[in-house]
Amino acid sequence: MAEEQPGGSPRADGDGRGDEFEFHTGTIRPSREPDAIEFIEVHKSFGRNHVLRGLNMALPENSISMIIGPSGTGKSVCIKHIVGLLYPDEGDVIVHGKSIPSLSDAELFEARKKFGVLFQDGALFGSLTLWDNIAFPLRQHTEKSEEEIAEIVNRRMREVGLGGEGAKMPNELSGGMRKRAGFARSLVLDPEIVLFDEPDSGLDPVRTALLCELIKEVHAENGGCYVVITHDILSARRVGQHISVLWKGRIVESGPADELFESENPFVRQFLSGASAGPLGME
Ligand SMILES: Nc1ncnc2c1ncn2[C@@H]1O[C@H](COP(=O)(O)OP(=O)(O)OP(=O)(O)O)[C@@H](O)[C@H]1O
Ligand SMILES: [Mg+2]
Repeated sequence: MAEEQPGGSPRADGDGRGDEFEFHTGTIRPSREPDAIEFIEVHKSFGRNHVLRGLNMALPENSISMIIGPSGTGKSVCIKHIVGLLYPDEGDVIVHGKSIPSLSDAELFEARKKFGVLFQDGALFGSLTLWDNIAFPLRQHTEKSEEEIAEIVNRRMREVGLGGEGAKMPNELSGGMRKRAGFARSLVLDPEIVLFDEPDSGLDPVRTALLCELIKEVHAENGGCYVVITHDILSARRVGQHISVLWKGRIVESGPADELFESENPFVRQFLSGASAGPLGME
């Protein structure tokens, strides 16, 4: 992907001081709660590929936030910075007031317990049954007895509609079931932050709608900061309470979902309506 090419768009100026970038870090939320996650002037390059270019992004507490943006724009790279799998070249990533890149290995191991992560394919272990997959984080990270583990695993499996399927192997499951299993596994440690990387990719519209409902229900019950990366504008409409539109490694606009869907910004309008005409091309 030609990251350096502005694609002929008058809005994509090379020095990055275009009006289309509106930064919202430090916004005081109506709830007055500090943001759960903050990116502050984050730069990240892979060789000559400058992916994050001074990213300022704040993801609120007790809310479902969507990060949307074109393919290759750095959404998955953001998630990896939040959980400390990647480090910024410059800038900082703050989670619940702590700088993730400054944590020692031991502190990072501790901090990771607060995250549930749902990777794109569910990332189940192929050699373990569904039940053992979902129990895995509890066995790895806690001293809980098998009885306590069983209670939690069975509850989470029922919650995602997989009660009774525990003996199945991952390759016996449909894509939608694997996602739900990944979701159940991401929840067993009662995470304060749950990160979903395209939970809806590869699902049919009905299963996508059901998964969106499930995310909303589970969030309503558990609270916390949920971050959902998606390409699917319908999903964003269904579950997004807060939306950040990422483009070329920075936020074009972010804010409450209802405001974003009313945005005057041509890029945001084009992206949220899925139109082919507008500043965004196939660069
Ligand atoms: N570990 C890595 N090493 C080198 N380049 C990487 C690495 N991870 C990501 N990139 C590059 O960073 C850019 C952003 O990747 P990222 O996976 O974050 O995109 P994305 O927004 O999640 O896209 P998609 O919507 O297609 O999943 C891409 O150009 C990708 O090639
Ligand atoms: Mg991605």
